[in-house]
Amino acid sequence: MKIDMHSHILPGIDDGSRSIDESLQMLDTFVENGTNIVVATPHFYCEEQSITRFLEKRNAAYEKLKPHLKSEHPQIILGAEVLYNPVLVGNEDLSKLAIQGTDFILLEMPYQKLTSDIINNVSKIVDFMDVKLLIAHIERYLHFTSFSDLSNLMDLDVLGQINVKSLMKASSKRACFKLIKKGYVHALGTDYHRLDKPVPHIGDSYEILDKKFGNGFTNHLIKNEAHILKNDSLEYFFG
Ligand SMILES: [Fe+2]
Repeated sequence: MKIDMHSHILPGIDDGSRSIDESLQMLDTFVENGTNIVVATPHFYCEEQSITRFLEKRNAAYEKLKPHLKSEHPQIILGAEVLYNPVLVGNEDLSKLAIQGTDFILLEMPYQKLTSDIINNVSKIVDFMDVKLLIAHIERYLHFTSFSDLSNLMDLDVLGQINVKSLMKASSKRACFKLIKKGYVHALGTDYHRLDKPVPHIGDSYEILDKKFGNGFTNHLIKNEAHILKNDSLEYFFG
C-alpha cells in the first residue's frame, strides 16, 4: 500500500495541475510508481476565499476530472492544504477542510519564524477545536525558523508530514532524518504540483528510509497513514 498524503492533482484550482489532461498524466505517473491512494490537497488561503467557495470549487474540479479517471488510477481522497492564519482559530467551519472521512487538517505553516504567538494559536486549535492537525512538509520550515521553534510546534499533539523530494536531496535529507528520529514524522507526501516539475513518488524513498531506520520502518509509516485515513484518535499515535 502506497499512500500520498499531499498533492495538487486537481485541475485548475490552485498552482497545481492546469487541466484535466495534466491531472490525468500526473495520475499516470502515480500508477507507474504503484501509488494506491492520493490525497488531493489544493491550497486554501482564507484571505482569498471563503471555506464554502473553496469547497465548491474543489468539488467541482474533482467532478470534472472524475469521468476521465481510469480504473488503474489511484483512489483520490479530497482534502486541502490550509495555510495557517490566526483567524482560523475558533472558526467552526475549519473542520469542513479536513481530509475526507477524517478530522485531520493538513496545515501549512507560514514561511517565517514560528513565534510563540503562532505556536499558541496552533495549540488552541489542537486543544479546543474538533479537528486534528497534520502539519505539511515540516522540513521546509527549517529554512525560516530554528529546530527548537519547530520542536515547540511539533511537541504539541500534532502529526507531521515530510515531502519525499526532501528525503532524496542531500541538502535536506539530514534534517528529515533528525525530524524522524524525534518522532515528528507520521506521513509522506509528494506535494506534486505540475507535470513539467516531476517529483519523486512515495515508493522512491522507501529504500532510503528502511536503510536508515531498519527494515519495517516504511511499513510503520504506511500504518500511520492508514490510521490517519481511518481517523484514529491521537492516542494511537502518542500512546
Ligand atoms: Fe502543497
